[in-house]
Amino acid sequence: MSFNTFGHLFRFTSFGESHGAAIGCVVDGCPPRIPLKREDIQRELDRRRPGQSRFTTQRQEPDAVKIMSGVFTDEQSGEQVTTGTPIMLMIENVDQRSKDYSDIKDKYRPGHAGYTYDAKYGIHDYRGGGRASARETAARVAAAAIARKIVPGLTVRGALVQMGPHKIDRSRWDWNEIGKNPFFCPDAKQAKFFEEYLDGVRKSGSSCGAVIEVLAEGVPAGLGAPVYAKLDGDLASALMGINAVKGVEIGDGFATAAMSGIENADEMRMGNDNKPLFLSNHAGGILGGISTGQAIVARFAVKPTSSILTPRKTVDRYGRDTEVVTKGRHDPCVGIRAVPIGEAMVACVLADHYLMHRGQVGEGTAWPFKPGA
Ligand SMILES: Cc1cc2nc3c(=O)[nH]c(=O)nc-3n(C[C@H](O)[C@H](O)[C@H](O)COP(=O)(O)O)c2cc1C
Repeated sequence: MSFNTFGHLFRFTSFGESHGAAIGCVVDGCPPRIPLKREDIQRELDRRRPGQSRFTTQRQEPDAVKIMSGVFTDEQSGEQVTTGTPIMLMIENVDQRSKDYSDIKDKYRPGHAGYTYDAKYGIHDYRGGGRASARETAARVAAAAIARKIVPGLTVRGALVQMGPHKIDRSRWDWNEIGKNPFFCPDAKQAKFFEEYLDGVRKSGSSCGAVIEVLAEGVPAGLGAPVYAKLDGDLASALMGINAVKGVEIGDGFATAAMSGIENADEMRMGNDNKPLFLSNHAGGILGGISTGQAIVARFAVKPTSSILTPRKTVDRYGRDTEVVTKGRHDPCVGIRAVPIGEAMVACVLADHYLMHRGQVGEGTAWPFKPGA
C-alpha cells in the first residue's frame, strides 16, 4: 500500500495498524538544532489519548512515545536537539482486544472502510479497522509536536463548536474552558449540556457527529502559492485526510455564498507595526492561496461513528446479505478526539509551507515598497 507520506520539505511517513505491535512515524526534513524532548511529544499525544473520560472509547492506550533517532545533546546548551536526520517516533499498542472483532470479521460495518479496503487490496486486517483505524492519527499528532516548533511564534489551537445539531454560543467562547471539560469545548454551559446529550445518544445505541474549529495564530504573510500549492487547498486536503471528516471550510466557508460582496470584503488599513491591518477576517487568513498574516481559521465536520450497537443491514466478504452489530469499544462521537488531530494537521501543513516559502523566497520581501523604487 503506497501513499503513507505527508508533506514536501517537512515530511513524515506513518506506519502501523490498530491491533499491530506498534504505530509511529519517521519525520524527515526537520531543521537541525531545534530543542526536542520526549515530553514535548507526549504532552500532545496525551490530549488525543483514548480512555480519558466516559465519552470516548474505553481502550486504555498509554500512547507512550519513544524517540528512536534524530536527536542529540547540544554541546553549547546541554539540551536535547534535533540533528536534521530522520526522527523516528514509536508508540507501542498495548490494549488491543482483537476478540471484540471476531464476530464481525467477515461483515462490513456500514460507514466503515472494510468494503472499500477489500475491494482495493483483497486483504483486510479487520481488527479495529487495521490501517483504516484512527489509531494511525496518533502518529500525526506526534509528528505535529515537532511541526509546531518549526514556525517561530506559531500557536495552533482547536475547539469543538458543535455536537450533533447543537452549536456552542460563541459569545461564551473561553479558551481556558477547553482543558476543563471532556469535549475541548470553549463554552462551559454547552459542555454541561453535551454530557447529557451524549449519554442519551449512546444509550439509544447510536452515535453523533461534530464540528471542530482550528485557529492558527502567528502565521507570517506569504505562506502558500497561487496555483497548485494553495495554502487553503493543502489545509483542506490535510483535514479531509482525517478519518471520518466529511467537510472542511476556511474562514466563513460555505456562509460566504449567502454574503454580499460588501459584507465579505476584509477591508484594510495601515497598522502601527508597518503591516496591513485587516478590519475583519472572513477570508480565514488566506487570500489567493497565500497567508495574509491574520489568524488562519479552518473548520471541519466529522460524521457520526459508524460502529454502533443498533443492528444494521450489510453484506459479508462472500457476497451474502446479513446484519451487523458492533460491540467493542468505540467513541460515541469521534469528533471529540478529532480536535488535537485537526490541530496536528494544520501545524504540519504550516511547517511544510514555512520551509517551502523560505526555500523559495528566503526572508521574503521588504513590504511596504518605496513608491517608484
Ligand atoms: C479520533 C477518531 C476515532 C475514531 N474511532 C472510531 C471508532 O471507534 N469506531 C468507528 O467505527 N469509527 C471510528 N473512527 C472513524 C473511522 O476511522 C472512519 O469512519 C473509517 O475509517 C471510514 O472512513 P471515512 O469515515 O473517512 O470514510 C474514528 C475517527 C477518529 C477521527
